[in-house]
Amino acid sequence: MSCAKLLSVFFTFTFFIKSLNCNHGNRKVYADLTTNRLTREHDGSNGMWSLHGVAHASHATKTEFIFNADLLSEDGRNHLNIASMVYPMLGPTSDLDEEYLEYLILQAKTAKIDGFLVEWGFREHPSNVALEKIIAVAEKHRPFEIGVNWCNHWLLQWLEQKNATDQMVSEFHKNAQYLLDTVFYTSSKRFPSVSLRPLIFLFGGGITSEQFRKVLAIGLKIPYWLDPPLWIGNYLNFAETEELWAEWGPLMDGIFGWIPSRTRVVPPSMPQWDYYGNLVDTTRYQQNVSSAGEGCIRNGTCQLWCASASPGFDNRGCAGWGGTLKYLPRKWQGTSLYNAQWKYHVLNNSSANILILPTMNDYSEASVLLPTKQYGFEALYTTELFASFWKGSQSNSAGVTLPTWWFSLKKSIAFLNQTGVNITKVAAQIEDCSTKISLGSYAAAANCLEAIQLKTDMLYAHLTVDDFTLEVPNGKMYFVKPPLMKFGAYLLNTTHGLYLRMSDVMSRVLLTNNYVGVLQFDYILLDNAFTRIQVYSSTKRKSTGVVFMPFPRQTTNEQYTEIIDSVEAGNFAVVCDLMNKVPGVWHHANVRLYKSNIAWDHTAPLDSDLHFKAVGGSYLVKRISLEFHVYHYDGGGK
Ligand SMILES: *[C@@H]1O[C@H](CO)[C@@H](O)[C@H](O)[C@H]1NC(C)=O
Ligand SMILES: *[C@@H]1O[C@H](CO)[C@@H](O)[C@H](O)[C@H]1NC(C)=O
Ligand SMILES: *[C@@H]1O[C@H](CO)[C@@H](O)[C@H](O)[C@H]1NC(C)=O
Ligand SMILES: *[C@@H]1O[C@H](CO)[C@@H](O)[C@H](O)[C@H]1NC(C)=O
Ligand SMILES: *[C@@H]1O[C@H](CO)[C@@H](O)[C@H](O)[C@H]1NC(C)=O
Ligand SMILES: *[C@@H]1O[C@H](CO)[C@@H](O)[C@H](O)[C@H]1NC(C)=O
Ligand SMILES: *[C@@H]1O[C@H](CO)[C@@H](O)[C@H](O)[C@H]1NC(C)=O
Ligand SMILES: *[C@@H]1O[C@H](CO)[C@@H](O)[C@H](O)[C@H]1NC(C)=O
Repeated sequence: MSCAKLLSVFFTFTFFIKSLNCNHGNRKVYADLTTNRLTREHDGSNGMWSLHGVAHASHATKTEFIFNADLLSEDGRNHLNIASMVYPMLGPTSDLDEEYLEYLILQAKTAKIDGFLVEWGFREHPSNVALEKIIAVAEKHRPFEIGVNWCNHWLLQWLEQKNATDQMVSEFHKNAQYLLDTVFYTSSKRFPSVSLRPLIFLFGGGITSEQFRKVLAIGLKIPYWLDPPLWIGNYLNFAETEELWAEWGPLMDGIFGWIPSRTRVVPPSMPQWDYYGNLVDTTRYQQNVSSAGEGCIRNGTCQLWCASASPGFDNRGCAGWGGTLKYLPRKWQGTSLYNAQWKYHVLNNSSANILILPTMNDYSEASVLLPTKQYGFEALYTTELFASFWKGSQSNSAGVTLPTWWFSLKKSIAFLNQTGVNITKVAAQIEDCSTKISLGSYAAAANCLEAIQLKTDMLYAHLTVDDFTLEVPNGKMYFVKPPLMKFGAYLLNTTHGLYLRMSDVMSRVLLTNNYVGVLQFDYILLDNAFTRIQVYSSTKRKSTGVVFMPFPRQTTNEQYTEIIDSVEAGNFAVVCDLMNKVPGVWHHANVRLYKSNIAWDHTAPLDSDLHFKAVGGSYLVKRISLEFHVYHYDGGGK
């Protein structure tokens, strides 16, 4: 049966898809991957989960955003204030955690995604750490391809900061060579390519056409198993207008689609944003990219074009990167825009052989395919169904929910391990489950996970818990130095901190056992200014690998400039770092005390264990308390 005959059947009886088998073996689906979110436990920083930003060019009702990812709900289960308009089903995670990177790969594979395009800046940029890690993790789950979406404007910004923009040509050239040697390092096919030519996706907005021409003229050392790369430019920055393509067409080998345009001015009913896009714009965008792609192939100015489909967009999570606030709803008057984009490519028999999905995980712009509290697994199910159809393979959505289960069990096993349970066997068994997911043996993988679930449940049933609540001051947690008092609360300012020390008896309990701990306090800002209240602890933990990495924290006053005022990752003494701007309001803070980070050995300033510090203003603090659930294992359930 031909594809065409089945098309009408497909949308009425989707189960017919299982019998489809058209030959589209060369078609590929890649998802864009960001790598700037971290956790205190894994990295000593929240990375981009925390942020203060102002959308300077916006006229929306709210333009200033403060996200304090450290804050937990009263029951400790949810983070109250992360920098995203969607909440991840797995909660905040670290993009540098190898287990999480493995989860991402498994999750992508279950949705028929062939690889990731990692948003990458340059060798010295934090994204390079993640790139190297994910290349190594992907080895475990071949076939899975890793390529880059080269955000070369980050390179420009870095050179601008160093007053070294005259080095753009040599730096870009050096980094392009690095990509060839790192990402495209092997003769077996583990990266996006067309025949022997690796694909480098260029986001644009950094290098100029004149500079790029010089880079091409210098030439790159091509490994003997490869042909020279194909440079694929983002339609947005290279081909959206005739003028752009006249400039770039001779230099680029192709174009790729991105997130549909959001350029419509909002009606009064949508005051949270400045611009939005609807179903008509989404279709129109796909038409524009398709006709540019097909046109440049026809007239020989490109060798390749890539279509796109994007699940939605809302950039309030990054305050529009300092610019304007834009919105692409997931549903427009009941129609899923993501489905509509896939249908556009499938029903119109798009000539593109590569489809790019922006994005897998960009929580800042809420464009994620990953499962969220608000939308569940919807975007992943859509991806699996349409990608199967588009590639002419059988749909099998039974794997879509397995990777989150796998990841949660991995974390449960790690917790049992820290509690002194011998997890050798169960840790080995769960490796089989990930292999089964990776191979697409979903029924076997589900059985495997079910067996691990039973085993871990049984081990958890043999844990006992002692609860400790320490209201400060208390014999177990007391002030090293008498605090300044004002209005019955503790005064905290830039010259006067609060220093708390834990008793040796309590320290020993925490050092010899596993626990889940939280610190709670109330605070009020006294000044009318943007300031922070921070808590530091004693720690023995030093950052490993790439030491301090700057992550953006605040937007500048200039329109459209990226975020400055970096926060350093790798400082494991930080318990929380809470930004505030509104004075005169009491806030309640509930933040985690991570066993892996805190030493409880009185080595924080003034021989303390917890040190409250005000940065740039004065605060009142009251009702400080610590709560610990201390876990013991009775040796049963093995
Ligand atoms: C889709 O397009 C391809 C070429 O791009 C062609 O070979 C194929 O026959 C078309 N299929 C349908 C159903 O139109
Ligand atoms: C760059 O140049 C500006 C203006 O000349 C100067 O203020 C700044 O300190 C320089 N920055 C560096 C990193 O050299
Ligand atoms: C599509 O292209 C036309 C003509 O260049 C342009 O006016 C329009 O804004 C574009 N629409 C979208 C949604 O990109
Ligand atoms: C080739 O096609 C592109 C995209 O349709 C168009 O912008 C460009 O002007 C064309 N170039 C020539 C030389 O016809
Ligand atoms: C197919 O393309 C046409 C013309 O570009 C467009 O009007 C139509 O909506 C597309 N079909 C789907 C299902 O999106
Ligand atoms: C268990 O804990 C030990 C000691 O902390 C560690 O070396 C090991 O990697 C852990 N194993 C797992 C599977 O988490
Ligand atoms: C943990 O269990 C494995 C077998 O499951 C055993 O080989 C190992 O010796 C045990 N480790 C400890 C520290 O008891
Ligand atoms: C902090 O408060 C103390 C007590 O009121 C005061 O003496 C000190 O000057 C304050 N420091 C600053 C920087 O305001």
